[in-house]
Amino acid sequence: MKQQLKVLSVLIAGSFSLLAASGGAIYAATQSSQPLSKAELIKQGQQVFRYDTFGDEIHWTDQLHMNQVISTEVSPKTALAVGLKVDVDALPEAVKKGIADGSINLDDPAVTVVLLKLNAVVGAQGTVENVNGTDTLTRFGITCALCHSTVDNSFAPGIGHRLDGWPNHDLNPGAIVALSPALSAAQKVQLNSWGPGLYDPRWNVDGLSNPVVIPPAYGLDGVNSVVYTGDGPNLSYWNRYVAVTQMGGQGVFSDPRVGAHLNPHTPGLAPNWQPGMLVVNGTQDMTSSALAALQAYQLSIAAPPPPAGSFEPAAARRGKLVFKVAGCSSCHSGPHFTDANARLHAPTASAAKDTLYVTRSATGMYRTTPLRGLWQHAPYFHDGSAKTLADVVEAYNKKLNLWWLTPRQKNDLVEYLKTL
Ligand code: HEC
Ligand code: HEC
Repeated sequence: MKQQLKVLSVLIAGSFSLLAASGGAIYAATQSSQPLSKAELIKQGQQVFRYDTFGDEIHWTDQLHMNQVISTEVSPKTALAVGLKVDVDALPEAVKKGIADGSINLDDPAVTVVLLKLNAVVGAQGTVENVNGTDTLTRFGITCALCHSTVDNSFAPGIGHRLDGWPNHDLNPGAIVALSPALSAAQKVQLNSWGPGLYDPRWNVDGLSNPVVIPPAYGLDGVNSVVYTGDGPNLSYWNRYVAVTQMGGQGVFSDPRVGAHLNPHTPGLAPNWQPGMLVVNGTQDMTSSALAALQAYQLSIAAPPPPAGSFEPAAARRGKLVFKVAGCSSCHSGPHFTDANARLHAPTASAAKDTLYVTRSATGMYRTTPLRGLWQHAPYFHDGSAKTLADVVEAYNKKLNLWWLTPRQKNDLVEYLKTL
């Protein structure tokens, strides 16, 4: 909320009134000023997705001092242990050789600085400058790829070619942020409680700690409703939200609906919390102009098809029928297996365990999650309460009272889900 107070004072100062007026109504994709072909736009969007910090170094460097912690405490081994990934295509041959033969010391934080200088850490951007003869990490920021890219481990575990759009479920964002010396002990306890693959993109908004599974950013072309709770009609809505309010990018996000469904007596709610959201970072908008390309790139990423041999074809064919008869297709309908373009669902529609997160959103409702690349991105449901697809089927078995499903039909349904 400190952030919001700062925001208001900036607004009152007047320097931001024009920007805020446009930011307040942004639910549509922002148009890029230059006319680019679709292919060029996608290419530009890939650069944004991988490397653009939207100026969030101000947050990660000046406020959180992550550059200091990384230089002194985060060896490559530590970085890999908290799920950070290394892009093998950014490594020169000599570095690859040094890693392979052990002559590069992966226990030395100075090597992390080298990797950042090479721009080889997925989702991290570092500025490395020569200070008194030593390479020094002077600026640090993050990009979208931090949470929504992983690598194929082709070189070593955690080191390989980029897989954009694949959620990084090894990543422990809470543990990473908790490294900051600028946070209180209580905040660190919250952040460290989340665990790998989960992040709470509302914790710094309402003070609650209730993380959700990092979802894939692929297979979304044609789905005009985003996030678990369908908060906006396009990716740009949410991309602006995350870039400004979570990453600390420079720009504006505003949505008066956020938190309108939250019970003001919810335990743990920040004492000065109020429904509605307005965040303005800085005096120069570095987010809006990137949104069109960023959205185009994500929409171009197809869901990865199931690997050969990863499901049993005959069972999957039978499971397709079970999916229909069990009523799954009444919500998971159409080419994306979702009715998201037509409606949202009441909080009671979810078969997940957590019931709090939905109330913290803009809609207070659930979007039927589109089903794609399911084989790739366990755990399932917004809270990750179903570790496997068999757990998903069991959860629905209870929820929808599917007592008549035989063990074989349940198995067939799981095999079918693996094909989506
Ligand atoms: C710290 C981790 C983190 C970072 C960084 C991050 N995201 Fe996300 N992203 C999440 C989480 C968690 C959600 C789920 C939020 C929800 O559904 O309520 C999400 C949701 C999404 C979705 C919604 C997918 C769907 O099914 O509708 C997209 C797309 C997305 N993020 C893209 C981006 C882009 C683009 C950026 C950079 C501007 C970004 N994310 C930065 C964690 C992150
Ligand atoms: C009333 C509408 C509705 C019905 C019926 C329904 N679902 Fe869902 N489904 C949802 C919603 C809403 C979510 C998101 C819940 C959450 O994340 O908390 C979801 C999530 C899922 C997920 C998790 C996807 C992910 O990436 O996390 C799977 C898998 C799934 N459903 C499969 C099924 C199957 C199989 C059936 C039939 C047995 C079914 N659903 C019936 C609405 C429905």
